[in-house]
Amino acid sequence: MNLKLVKAAALLWLHCGSAFGLETPYRRRAESPAPRKLTNLADIPILTVTAEASFHAVYDECNVRYLRQAGCSKVDHVELGDVGIHGNGHMFFMETNSDEVQELVHSWILNITKV
Ligand SMILES: *[C@@H]1O[C@H](CO)[C@@H](O)[C@H](O)[C@H]1NC(C)=O
Repeated sequence: MNLKLVKAAALLWLHCGSAFGLETPYRRRAESPAPRKLTNLADIPILTVTAEASFHAVYDECNVRYLRQAGCSKVDHVELGDVGIHGNGHMFFMETNSDEVQELVHSWILNITKV
Protein backbone atom coordinates (compact mmCIF):
# COMPACT_ATOMS: atom_id res chain seq x y z
CA MET A 1 0.00 0.00 0.00
CA ASN A 2 1.57 3.30 -1.04
CA LEU A 3 1.47 6.56 0.91
CA LYS A 4 -1.08 8.16 -1.39
CA LEU A 5 -3.41 5.25 -0.74
CA VAL A 6 -2.86 5.36 3.02
CA LYS A 7 -3.60 9.09 3.12
CA ALA A 8 -6.75 8.60 1.05
CA ALA A 9 -7.92 5.72 3.18
CA ALA A 10 -7.30 7.72 6.34
CA LEU A 11 -9.53 10.43 5.01
CA LEU A 12 -12.45 8.25 4.10
CA TRP A 13 -15.32 9.75 5.86
CA LEU A 14 -17.45 6.73 6.52
CA HIS A 15 -20.60 8.48 7.53
CA CYS A 16 -24.07 7.14 7.15
CA GLY A 17 -27.37 8.70 6.58
CA SER A 18 -29.94 10.08 4.18
CA ALA A 19 -32.70 9.83 6.73
CA PHE A 20 -35.76 8.60 4.94
CA GLY A 21 -35.46 10.84 1.90
CA LEU A 22 -35.99 14.08 3.81
CA GLU A 23 -34.58 17.28 2.41
CA THR A 24 -31.81 18.60 4.60
CA PRO A 25 -32.91 21.86 6.23
CA TYR A 26 -29.41 23.28 6.29
CA ARG A 27 -28.17 26.67 5.32
CA ARG A 28 -24.78 27.05 3.74
CA ARG A 29 -22.70 28.90 6.25
CA ALA A 30 -19.83 31.28 5.93
CA GLU A 31 -20.52 32.62 2.45
CA SER A 32 -18.85 35.77 3.62
CA PRO A 33 -16.31 35.63 4.95
CA ALA A 34 -15.57 32.27 3.36
CA PRO A 35 -14.04 29.62 5.61
CA ARG A 36 -10.28 29.51 5.81
CA LYS A 37 -8.61 27.17 3.36
CA LEU A 38 -7.59 23.71 4.46
CA THR A 39 -4.42 23.85 2.39
CA ASN A 40 -3.01 20.56 3.64
CA LEU A 41 -6.13 18.76 2.42
CA ALA A 42 -6.52 20.65 -0.85
CA ASP A 43 -5.20 17.86 -3.07
CA ILE A 44 -6.03 14.85 -0.90
CA PRO A 45 -8.87 12.64 -2.13
CA ILE A 46 -11.71 12.56 0.41
CA LEU A 47 -14.75 10.30 0.26
CA THR A 48 -17.85 10.81 2.36
CA VAL A 49 -20.10 7.75 2.43
CA THR A 50 -23.62 8.39 3.69
CA ALA A 51 -26.01 5.59 4.64
CA GLU A 52 -29.76 5.89 4.63
CA ALA A 53 -30.58 5.37 8.29
CA SER A 54 -27.77 7.25 9.95
CA PHE A 55 -28.06 10.36 12.06
CA HIS A 56 -25.49 11.89 9.66
CA ALA A 57 -27.94 11.67 6.78
CA VAL A 58 -29.35 15.12 7.33
CA TYR A 59 -26.04 16.96 7.40
CA ASP A 60 -23.35 15.01 5.54
CA GLU A 61 -24.06 17.22 2.54
CA CYS A 62 -23.08 20.18 4.72
CA ASN A 63 -19.73 18.57 5.53
CA VAL A 64 -19.09 17.99 1.85
CA ARG A 65 -20.02 21.56 0.91
CA TYR A 66 -17.85 22.92 3.69
CA LEU A 67 -14.83 20.92 2.53
CA ARG A 68 -15.32 22.15 -1.04
CA GLN A 69 -15.70 25.73 0.19
CA ALA A 70 -12.49 25.30 2.17
CA GLY A 71 -10.57 24.42 -0.98
CA CYS A 72 -10.60 20.63 -0.91
CA SER A 73 -10.59 19.88 -4.60
CA LYS A 74 -11.06 16.12 -4.55
CA VAL A 75 -14.15 15.56 -2.42
CA ASP A 76 -16.56 12.84 -3.44
CA HIS A 77 -19.87 12.07 -1.77
CA VAL A 78 -21.68 8.77 -2.21
CA GLU A 79 -25.10 8.26 -0.70
CA LEU A 80 -25.49 4.50 -0.40
CA GLY A 81 -29.20 4.63 -1.23
CA ASP A 82 -28.42 6.32 -4.55
CA VAL A 83 -26.20 3.40 -5.57
CA GLY A 84 -28.69 0.71 -4.55
CA ILE A 85 -27.35 -0.07 -1.08
CA HIS A 86 -30.33 0.40 1.22
CA GLY A 87 -31.15 0.30 4.90
CA ASN A 88 -27.78 0.84 6.51
CA GLY A 89 -27.16 2.79 9.67
CA HIS A 90 -24.09 4.60 10.88
CA MET A 91 -22.12 1.42 11.64
CA PHE A 92 -22.42 -0.06 8.16
CA PHE A 93 -18.93 -1.49 8.30
CA MET A 94 -20.28 -3.89 10.95
CA GLU A 95 -23.54 -4.71 9.22
CA THR A 96 -24.33 -7.86 7.22
CA ASN A 97 -23.87 -6.15 3.83
CA SER A 98 -20.56 -4.55 4.76
CA ASP A 99 -18.90 -6.35 1.82
CA GLU A 100 -21.08 -4.33 -0.58
CA VAL A 101 -19.96 -1.06 1.01
CA GLN A 102 -16.36 -2.25 1.05
CA GLU A 103 -16.56 -2.98 -2.69
CA LEU A 104 -17.76 0.57 -3.30
CA VAL A 105 -14.96 2.08 -1.22
CA HIS A 106 -12.42 -0.23 -2.88
CA SER A 107 -13.68 0.89 -6.29
CA TRP A 108 -13.26 4.53 -5.23
CA ILE A 109 -9.71 3.90 -4.03
CA LEU A 110 -8.83 2.15 -7.30
CA ASN A 111 -10.32 5.08 -9.23
CA ILE A 112 -8.36 7.75 -7.39
CA THR A 113 -5.11 5.83 -7.70
CA LYS A 114 -5.43 5.41 -11.48
CA VAL A 115 -2.83 7.46 -13.26
C1 LIG B 1 -15.01 4.08 -10.40
O1 LIG B 1 -14.90 4.30 -11.80
C2 LIG B 1 -15.87 3.58 -12.55
C3 LIG B 1 -15.54 3.78 -14.01
O2 LIG B 1 -15.47 5.14 -14.33
C4 LIG B 1 -17.27 4.08 -12.17
O3 LIG B 1 -18.25 3.37 -12.88
C5 LIG B 1 -17.48 3.87 -10.69
O4 LIG B 1 -18.71 4.44 -10.30
C6 LIG B 1 -16.36 4.51 -9.89
N1 LIG B 1 -16.52 4.16 -8.49
C7 LIG B 1 -16.66 5.06 -7.53
C8 LIG B 1 -16.94 4.55 -6.18
O5 LIG B 1 -16.57 6.25 -7.74
